[in-house]
Amino acid sequence: MNERIIIFDTTLRDGEQSPGASLNVFEKLEIARQLATLKVDVIEAGFPVSSPAQFEAVQRIAAESEVIIAGLARAKEIDVKSAYDALRDAIHPRIHTFLCTSDIHILGKFADSKYGLTLEEKRKTVLKMSYDAVAYAKTFMPDVEFSAEDAGRTDIGYLADIIETAIDAGATTVNIPDTTGYNFPSEFGNKIAELKKRVKNIDKAIISVHCHDDLGLAVANSITAIQNGARQVECTINGIGERAGNASLEEIVMALKVRKDIANYFININFSEIYNTSRMVSGFTGVVVQPNKAIVGENAFAHESGIHQDGMLKNKQTYEIMTPESVGVNKTKIILGRHSGRHGLKVRLKELGYHITEEELQKVYDAFLELADKKKEVFDDDLRVLMGDEIYKVQELYELEYMHVNAGTKTIPTATVRIKTGENVIQESSTGDGPVDAVFNAIERALSIKPTVESYNVRSVTSGRQALGESIIRIRSGENSFTGRGTSTDIIEASAKAFLQAINQFLVFTNSKVEVNENGISIK
Ligand code: KIV
Ligand code: ZN
Repeated sequence: MNERIIIFDTTLRDGEQSPGASLNVFEKLEIARQLATLKVDVIEAGFPVSSPAQFEAVQRIAAESEVIIAGLARAKEIDVKSAYDALRDAIHPRIHTFLCTSDIHILGKFADSKYGLTLEEKRKTVLKMSYDAVAYAKTFMPDVEFSAEDAGRTDIGYLADIIETAIDAGATTVNIPDTTGYNFPSEFGNKIAELKKRVKNIDKAIISVHCHDDLGLAVANSITAIQNGARQVECTINGIGERAGNASLEEIVMALKVRKDIANYFININFSEIYNTSRMVSGFTGVVVQPNKAIVGENAFAHESGIHQDGMLKNKQTYEIMTPESVGVNKTKIILGRHSGRHGLKVRLKELGYHITEEELQKVYDAFLELADKKKEVFDDDLRVLMGDEIYKVQELYELEYMHVNAGTKTIPTATVRIKTGENVIQESSTGDGPVDAVFNAIERALSIKPTVESYNVRSVTSGRQALGESIIRIRSGENSFTGRGTSTDIIEASAKAFLQAINQFLVFTNSKVEVNENGISIK
């Protein structure tokens, strides 16, 4: 029997740490359902102690999922307890606690003399903290994972001690992260082999790996680790994650499927759901999949040159090592239009992986008809955008009620916006260098706020000249940045919505509120 590889998905935790990606609780729930359909073995649903929103997301996913649900916790009692509280209702809960182990991290994060005066003393403190965190987590549940953060740059002797200690304390999975994506495949593989030799109690736990992609080696490192004894891989859909991202789930599982001849392991993944999952995650997070991305990119199965096309016509295997169908890419486009009925829409949404109630269906159907009036042909990606815009959108503090823009080759661009907040409506106008600038200026005037725009992007999310345009804007305030996303067939409206959403996030974060009274507008 070939050995099983546990697929641990961390899209909702490390993936959400991707610059610009942010998911609300409804989007997280829907992605978790899709990950269950994809048949991942573990879903890391979030970092409960880090914010009330994270806590709620983990709690709600835990309450409805039959998959193992992990919650992240630093090696601190408050974190571990919070993870337990969020996971209470899970059928299969897992606390995932972590602590840094490389000298560079220890000296930086534990600089205070209370952790010891020398590196040796500080290392001892970290060892004890690791033991205590795992032992404490173990008082709540049997399934406990320990991660040695920056294991990729940790001295192998010390790493072996830490792992042995964590297993002694009760860890059932020990994770070896290459946190900074620093290792070479041969080096990382040797590390796993070495741990198998050095750690006396290693057979009492599953070795896991968690690779980042700073040098583009995350997938290669994960696979080499498997070949050297790792039996769990941590990865994300589309490879999203901190900085350059995490190892991509679809690349790992397809590599293991396609190259069974040299890496024969059992993975329980439902391969034909890969594409739907990728599109859903990209749609909700706003993190675009590059066209040449392996497995799920727009061009992953496109054959452009004459020689390749000719070869493909003669025998598909000439240039194709896997079929698009095997990952759920449907070559035949299904198009809906204004004459499509509610039932047809419901069936298609279900095929795309969405779970909607009758009440939600009515909402999305109304939006669908409005869109079909504007653009006649409604593609799958349009439906994905509608789902994000209509069903999972949370009530915003300030919503764009109306917008009018005057622009042309010889006119000064002018915009008027009307913004609704509760019962109040704020209306303002402004000019600008272009129509988008005019709208932004009008919004800034209306809310008496002038955020620094860090990045602003517009792209078409669907095909054809009536495509839906999506705008993504990041604004910054000190240490924190806030991302807003807006879609519309009109890119100026999409930009206005995105800008307003980013401002909303900033205001929610800082707990400020725009007050409208007879003296004007002020931010409190
Ligand atoms: O990259 C990392 O080290 C992590 C740990 C928390 C597992 O994400
Ligand atoms: Zn990570």
